[in-house]
Amino acid sequence: MAIDIIESGYSESVGIEHRKKFAQFFTPVAIADIMVDWLLGCESLTSVLEPAFGLGVFSRILLSKAENVNVLGYDTDPVIYEYYHNKVSDGGVDFLLDDYINCDWNMKFDGIICNPPYFKFHDYDNKKYITAIRENLGFRLRMHTNLYAVFLLKSISQLAAGGRCAYIIPSEFLNSDYGVQVKKYLLESGTLRHIIVFNFKENVFDDATTTSAIILCANDKQSHSVGFTKINTSAEIGKINRLIDSYPSMENADSVLTVDNIDPSVKWKNYYSSFETPKLKHLVPFGTYAKVMRGIATGANEYFSFNLSKARQLGIDCRHFKPCICHSSDVSGILFSDSDYSDALNADKDVMIFNPLDLNDAHVVEYIRFGEDTDINKRFLTSKRNPWYGMENRMPAPIWVGVFNRSGLKFVRNETNTLNLTTFHCIYVQENLFGVDADLLFTYLISNCAKNLFSASAREYGNGLSKFEPNDLNKANMVDLGILDESCKKRLRELYYANKHNADPFFIKKVDDILFSAFG
Ligand SMILES: C[S@@+](CC[C@H](N)C(=O)[O-])C[C@H]1O[C@@H](n2cnc3c(N)ncnc32)[C@H](O)[C@@H]1O
Repeated sequence: MAIDIIESGYSESVGIEHRKKFAQFFTPVAIADIMVDWLLGCESLTSVLEPAFGLGVFSRILLSKAENVNVLGYDTDPVIYEYYHNKVSDGGVDFLLDDYINCDWNMKFDGIICNPPYFKFHDYDNKKYITAIRENLGFRLRMHTNLYAVFLLKSISQLAAGGRCAYIIPSEFLNSDYGVQVKKYLLESGTLRHIIVFNFKENVFDDATTTSAIILCANDKQSHSVGFTKINTSAEIGKINRLIDSYPSMENADSVLTVDNIDPSVKWKNYYSSFETPKLKHLVPFGTYAKVMRGIATGANEYFSFNLSKARQLGIDCRHFKPCICHSSDVSGILFSDSDYSDALNADKDVMIFNPLDLNDAHVVEYIRFGEDTDINKRFLTSKRNPWYGMENRMPAPIWVGVFNRSGLKFVRNETNTLNLTTFHCIYVQENLFGVDADLLFTYLISNCAKNLFSASAREYGNGLSKFEPNDLNKANMVDLGILDESCKKRLRELYYANKHNADPFFIKKVDDILFSAFG
């Protein structure tokens, strides 16, 4: 990926030996730009720190996008310091020739953005820096900790309330011994939000051989979860924009875990590593065990969908509504239970649709007349129904699947009698064919085994993973669950019952192990 002309001019002028001595591998512009966007999500971004300044690529982009921001930068290399002041400096930045770790630990910043130096323990004064961590943060890092981790820890401790931090560092600490203390601190700080691992064949930094990760932190109270996302090709970088745009929602991450379910002592590869599909046998069309149909199309969602306030305001009695999910964003998690429905209803979400039972109620008649006065009855779909305000007669679906999914299909087990609009497709299970009921089918659907078979089908249709029509799913392959022996079916159900409130990667891995040993 390309670095800016300023950094390439400098690189040519000083040569690689000098750059290696100071670990000067510059951040590609496309990556720096995205990291800056994370900082810009901080509502009161005024003070920004760039701890390993170099030629200030982050600050240059930041200052081109934001006003009233003051940047403080540090670097230890007098050559790059001179070069910056002679050829680059354009105001708005206070750049100090100093060692970041030695400088004030108490100063707080609204934004901290960094591509720190990567130095193995024998290439820097590790004793001095590890002592600094012990004195300031109160714990002992392993002696062979890489310098980039020391930078990251100090920066997290300097985040002001509401502040944001973006780091690009090697992914090594996620899976190494010295990383355990670092991960523990990240979790305990309550600021870790996203880990984005580059799983590229090519490297992010053209001239450094390391796999990189972007760490996004926020010192807010908006989330207790961490999103893990892999970027497999440079074409997938847009995924990071979507993570940032949708924050505090984590819906666009590949996997999401609550902080309580993340263990700093295990390799975090477990949470993000890719799942290679072995060749699977005994495949049948998905339509063998289930039928996928689109959700209810009202033809005028703004008229038919209701929340409690709207119903109360119009004086329409509750019996004239059916429970119904109108927006997929009102469903989080893999399970939708009666208490989830009550919570959504009480939070005044649109979770009812108008379904007038009789016309003796003056308020109902009045609302129908309002529909006619405003031509709702003349819309494309309503004009074809008789009466125009009558709803499609649908059974609640036991499984929903999200219609638009940039990060794969999202399945939800609906344990309620709630209907759904077209925001979800409905999955109706064929009545217990060979013992495959809704729970067993759902357990299969959230596995990587199912995900990979669906995406293989999507590629066949050439429509990517972005939008599945019901028939794409009906025709896609699935493993023939019915031929699983009874003990496997029982084990899958047990796993689902024990984990249905939280589909963490370990549960899904156990489901995959069973499926791959039966069908692999
Ligand atoms: C990987 S480069 C990043 C430069 C620039 N921020 C970018 O992203 O392109 C790391 C920079 O940190 C500087 N550096 C090395 N040790 C440092 C220290 N202890 N304190 C501050 N800066 C340091 C290096 O001179 C180098 O310019």
